[in-house]
Amino acid sequence: MSEFKTVRGMRDFLSDEAEMLRYVEGTARRVAGLYGYEEIVTPVVESYELLAAKAGEEVRSRMFVFKDLGGRDVALRPEFTASVARLVATTLRNEPRPFRLFSVGAVYRYDEPQRGRYREFWQSNYELMGSKRPEADAEIMLLTDSLMRKAGLNRFAFKIGHVGVLRGILNQEKVEDKTQSAVMQLMDKKQYDEALRKVEDAGVSRECMTVLRRLVEFSGKDVLAVAGEIGVLVEGYEKAVEAAKNLREILGLLLESGCKTEMTVEAGFARGLEYYTGLIFEVYVPDMDIALGGGGRYDRLIELFGGEPTPAVGVAHGIDRIMLGVQTQKNAQRLEKAKSAMVIPIKEELRGEALKIAQMLRDASVMVEVEVMGRKMAKALEDADRRKMDYAVIVGERELKEEAVVIRNLRKRVQETVKIQRMTERMENQSTA
Ligand code: HAM
Repeated sequence: MSEFKTVRGMRDFLSDEAEMLRYVEGTARRVAGLYGYEEIVTPVVESYELLAAKAGEEVRSRMFVFKDLGGRDVALRPEFTASVARLVATTLRNEPRPFRLFSVGAVYRYDEPQRGRYREFWQSNYELMGSKRPEADAEIMLLTDSLMRKAGLNRFAFKIGHVGVLRGILNQEKVEDKTQSAVMQLMDKKQYDEALRKVEDAGVSRECMTVLRRLVEFSGKDVLAVAGEIGVLVEGYEKAVEAAKNLREILGLLLESGCKTEMTVEAGFARGLEYYTGLIFEVYVPDMDIALGGGGRYDRLIELFGGEPTPAVGVAHGIDRIMLGVQTQKNAQRLEKAKSAMVIPIKEELRGEALKIAQMLRDASVMVEVEVMGRKMAKALEDADRRKMDYAVIVGERELKEEAVVIRNLRKRVQETVKIQRMTERMENQSTA
């Protein structure tokens, strides 16, 4: 048989990467807890129709789609939002609002594999459903801010826009929905000229083209001022003016809350997913031109799935990309690790004692491996060193008679006899750095 490899775009995570993945996942879960988001687990396989409904052409065309053995058209989820909206439109429809729901897990897109872009990747996803108020939008951005910091990133920035500005103009100009979505897809790929041409072909007014040409170029870091100027630029387009006002309100709340993260407002910013109706944003770190997270407001999706009209705002973070970001930011926090020890019996008759001592250490939260290869002491210590253990705990007859063991600090290469009762205390009081 030929040598098997992982399927293109799929990866194995060996210990360090798996640990980092679970660390970021754990951080995301802690942030969910701090902000009152309850975790829900939804299926990896959903109906194609549900996932495709408002995904947008870009995501839709990259889904892993297949027929199950019952002939149903299904797909691997490319994101969580459709699944959460389905739940709120059905099972949770009569529950009191707002909903704060958190999910984390693997999602699938047939993207072209490259650094930070995979076909199986992990997202942490937060949805706040039931509120149309700007404080809900601000909350989603603030929790993103918390997650990035707690994951160990110290330099990142928000890119911010508002779908309502462009949609407001195009609706008033009676551009049909399908064309609007196509325009947004082009803008998402920064193909502004083509996007503008498409709008022009739809037969909009000359003034509209003038406004749009100025809008797509318009951006700045003085976010309140930029949002204000967008409002002036789109004068006459009522809904677009409202959208700019909404954006300004959200930004005002963010600044008032004390958020110091760098922000840029880009009037020509669009996102690939089609369900957005209001604020949209993404997170970037310097030296990486791919987003670490993205989200926004989508007020009509739950209704579209047959639920009560429910305004909603949410965000998903790319866990793989956060991992990359943390690795590239040198002075980012290091992972805090539990102390580790290798327990080694001096001779065969002491294996039971060694297992017992290992259990005691684990009960005190020390990570323990027991020597299971029957190695002689020198070899066993060499192995413990290779495995980057902090300590070796040597179980010998003479010490046991005194209810003690020998603890060897493998980093400092010193050892001492310690009473069994005091093992963890000794480990905690010593540095292994
Ligand atoms: P999204 O922008 O499509 O939004 O994806 C969110 C994040 O997933 C991206 O910012 C990126 O970090 C990560 N990501 C996307 N594609 C890949 C890939 N091929 N490889 C690695 N990471 C990737 C959503 O999924 C929306 N559901 C967010 C949302 C929630 N909006 C409202 N609620």
